[in-house]
Amino acid sequence: MLLTGLLSATHLVGMTLVGSGALVSGLRRIGLLLSDQPDTEIAATARRLITTGVLVSIITGLLLFSARASTASVNGIFQLKMLLLVTALALHASRRGGAAASLLWYGVIFAGCAFILLE
Ligand code: HEM
Repeated sequence: MLLTGLLSATHLVGMTLVGSGALVSGLRRIGLLLSDQPDTEIAATARRLITTGVLVSIITGLLLFSARASTASVNGIFQLKMLLLVTALALHASRRGGAAASLLWYGVIFAGCAFILLE
């Protein structure tokens, strides 16, 4: 129980890093944040945040998943979350994701919350 709580809290730390990176990157892209700063610098910082957050989320997510694999794997919202995650990761790796990648990261976060709230 305590371990699950710790894993869940750490999973949320990962989610926060991903969400912060996607938000900073998206707002800079549409000119609402730090528009006086070089785009390359903001993009590199956002990228580091997202990469760290994804690693933390994947490690903790796999451990959380192992405790409920049979129910989660057949849950449509969980499947959607994994599809969004793989697509966002592919865009992130290609470095050409742009605004679509930021939106996809938010899709992963919303699907993660929906999975918990609606299951
Ligand atoms: C960027 C990657 C990810 C993000 C942003 C993310 C986000 C979230 C969020 C917001 C929740 C609901 C809050 C919580 O219980 O912690 C959640 C729950 C969950 N996530 Fe993720 N997640 C990610 C990756 C993964 C991966 C790769 C897996 C497993 C393969 C996974 C498995 C789970 C499971 C099993 C839960 C339910 C936890 C519980 O029982 O309390 N997640 N995720």
